Amino acid sequence: MTSDHAMLALEGIGLRIGGARILEGVSLEVPAGQMLGVIGPNGAGKTTLFNVVSGVVRPTAGRVVLDGVDVTREPVHRRATAGLGRTFQTSSLFPELSVLENVRLAAQARLGGATSLVRIPRAGDAATTRALDCLEEVGLAHRADAEASGLAHGEKRKVEIAMLLAQDPKAILLDEPMAGVASGDVPAITEVIRRLHRGGRTVLMVEHHMEVVLGLVDRVAVMHHGELLAVDTPEAVMANPTVQSAYLGEAM
Ligand SMILES: Nc1ncnc2c1ncn2[C@@H]1O[C@H](COP(=O)(O)OP(=O)(O)O)[C@@H](O)[C@H]1O
Ligand SMILES: [Mg+2]
Repeated sequence: MTSDHAMLALEGIGLRIGGARILEGVSLEVPAGQMLGVIGPNGAGKTTLFNVVSGVVRPTAGRVVLDGVDVTREPVHRRATAGLGRTFQTSSLFPELSVLENVRLAAQARLGGATSLVRIPRAGDAATTRALDCLEEVGLAHRADAEASGLAHGEKRKVEIAMLLAQDPKAILLDEPMAGVASGDVPAITEVIRRLHRGGRTVLMVEHHMEVVLGLVDRVAVMHHGELLAVDTPEAVMANPTVQSAYLGEAM
């Protein structure tokens, strides 16, 4: 595996729903190991693009290629098995289970075998060990026995990232990982994301906190009205007059 092959390639992605043009001509390559930030005004199509990549929505034009394999027609679970992980804007934890059990379920799914709540987790079984490692990686091992419903927003985000790690994805989509997170927790979650990336994973991240985006990513893709305006280094994107005018009068 060379370091500059495309982990994810989007080729001319278009999406029309009814008469509405939601996405148009989106072409993009994300080399293996890169972190790409996706920015753009509200309604620009960022979440929809992630839905197309993860398989929640099928595009009406174009191809999605994951690690060299055309997955355009593959359902969500097949893309997940092929190494694509994602988080959602809203929390996807089982509230009544412990932090450890939530992550263990994700680990079980990856390790194969029955995903069962009935089976008593044993300390030292493979899924439990893996779950504890992942909690360690996001700095939440000390909360393993806490009930998920009792966590602060920032902690929930970390658990969701631990669940992603448990599935050992090659490429990760993070849709607004800082949404709802108290500003005091932003640096810690930023650090967790930085570590994901350092581990060699390919990361695509939609995020409104520009200081987070600019401090983390290798390149920035700017979306506007369903199209890609620019894909470039953070510095070049911020200096781009087309990008600047797209934002004039529009709230991020
Ligand atoms: N299933 C759908 N049906 C109709 N319109 C949709 C659908 N999904 C998204 N849209 C529209 O597509 C546009 C892009 O939405 P979205 O991807 O959520 O933007 P962003 O995440 O950049 O804020 C919005 O105008 C939204 O209303
Ligand atoms: Mg969105």
